[in-house]
Amino acid sequence: MASSLSSSGMVLMDSMSSEAHGRPARSVKPAFDIVPTGRSIGAEIRGADLKVLGPDEVRAVRAAWNEHQVLLFREQSLTLENLLAFSRHFGDLDLAPIQENGRRFVDGHPEIYVVSNVMENGIAIGSLGSGEAVWHSDMTYVDDPPIASALYAVEVPPAGGDTSFCSMYGAWDRLSIDVRRQLEGLRLKHDATYNSGGYVRQGVVETDDPRTAPGVWHPLVRVHPETGRSALFLGRRRNAYIDGFTPRESDELLDKLWSVATDSAYVWQHRWNEGDLVLWDNRCTMHRRDSFEASSRRVMYRTQIKGDVARTRRVNNQ
Ligand code: SIN
Repeated sequence: MASSLSSSGMVLMDSMSSEAHGRPARSVKPAFDIVPTGRSIGAEIRGADLKVLGPDEVRAVRAAWNEHQVLLFREQSLTLENLLAFSRHFGDLDLAPIQENGRRFVDGHPEIYVVSNVMENGIAIGSLGSGEAVWHSDMTYVDDPPIASALYAVEVPPAGGDTSFCSMYGAWDRLSIDVRRQLEGLRLKHDATYNSGGYVRQGVVETDDPRTAPGVWHPLVRVHPETGRSALFLGRRRNAYIDGFTPRESDELLDKLWSVATDSAYVWQHRWNEGDLVLWDNRCTMHRRDSFEASSRRVMYRTQIKGDVARTRRVNNQ
């Protein structure tokens, strides 16, 4: 069966392989639809079965992902192996991150990080509990944070636990030229003390002094290697610190940048159903999660696609 990409990024399948028969193509039908969320970030891919994506479909998903930064796939029915295989279309996988307590990953699958409030025999089966998870991009406290994460909903609570996304391209684009120039060449320390649930990571001494807190330095603005677009790169707010600034100067500038980045006018919020999978790009987005009732169950499996050091370039004068 022949297939090709349409200008809208849809995969087109021609069951008659007309070209090979020397006559015009007919009965061309899209294998899936790309439906933007209507917000400034995110799209839903309708009609794709993530268990059986072919190379052309993977290419089309990747193109849609580069365009929309976050993709939602509903009604998926994935085994752990299916989730791993889908994630590996985008690169090698990182191991689940170091966490506060409880089990980090699914037994036998150290790449599958468990996000859950569920307790079994007094032990949490995953991380982040039922509280809010604050805005962040994943694992930026390492030198080469993952380029992407895929989060698959296994059990969801009847209310709460929504996940919201914001675009860091959008944040950069909304800054004035003067602020962009100010950010040029600056480095930001990304804290390794706390996770997004506010828990202290295993093996770390708790501190709220951003100058001495453990962490790594990244450029404040990074360039996405596939799209060439500039994105603000903030990681997490807590214990963040701009190199060479006083703590007060650093906090003032960071507060300004964070309020631009997380402006609710530009956020897309996703209400989960079981079987949803959301794939996001950590190089150009941040996300947060609402709290939910502690007595209800939420079980999510996440994979992380290995990354590279954040690259930067000089800011344009336009
Ligand atoms: C995460 O930050 O990766 C988890 C988000 C969520 O639980 O919705």
